[in-house]
Amino acid sequence: MHSILVLNGPNLNLLGTRQPEIYGSATLADVEAQCRALAGTLGLELAFLQSNHEGALIDAIHEARGRHAGIVLNAGAYTHTSVALRDAIAGVALPVIEVHLSNIHAREAFRHTSLIAPVALGQIAGFGTDVYLLGLRALASHLDPP
Ligand code: DQA
Repeated sequence: MHSILVLNGPNLNLLGTRQPEIYGSATLADVEAQCRALAGTLGLELAFLQSNHEGALIDAIHEARGRHAGIVLNAGAYTHTSVALRDAIAGVALPVIEVHLSNIHAREAFRHTSLIAPVALGQIAGFGTDVYLLGLRALASHLDPP
């Protein structure tokens, strides 16, 4: 059974009350419950982590090596700024699916650039909380091709 880390970055702990017109009304606990329900049917084990701190996210990516087979990552605003997070992903060579609740390409120009995308297996954006479920499905297929 593969183990997957679902890793969330800054401000995603506020999900449900944070700009609901952009991010919706589901909380991060709701997202976790949805992910755990799907993971069961996909035969995946899940670890779920959120941090507002860049270094803690980098530590989590390092520690994922040897523990998890892949990562579903919503790096929040660090997506657009963090060379360190990108280097961590490149450094551990684990498959990472980048996800965003909102369509970052349809928003402010500074959100159009992702420093993560070039080192990710792929990016899923714009489908609300479904992006996490789509990310899990993508990783499951990648790890066990049909
Ligand atoms: C986000 C998009 C980012 O631009 C933003 O900074 C976030 C959330 C998303 O899920 O849509 O914090 O990653």
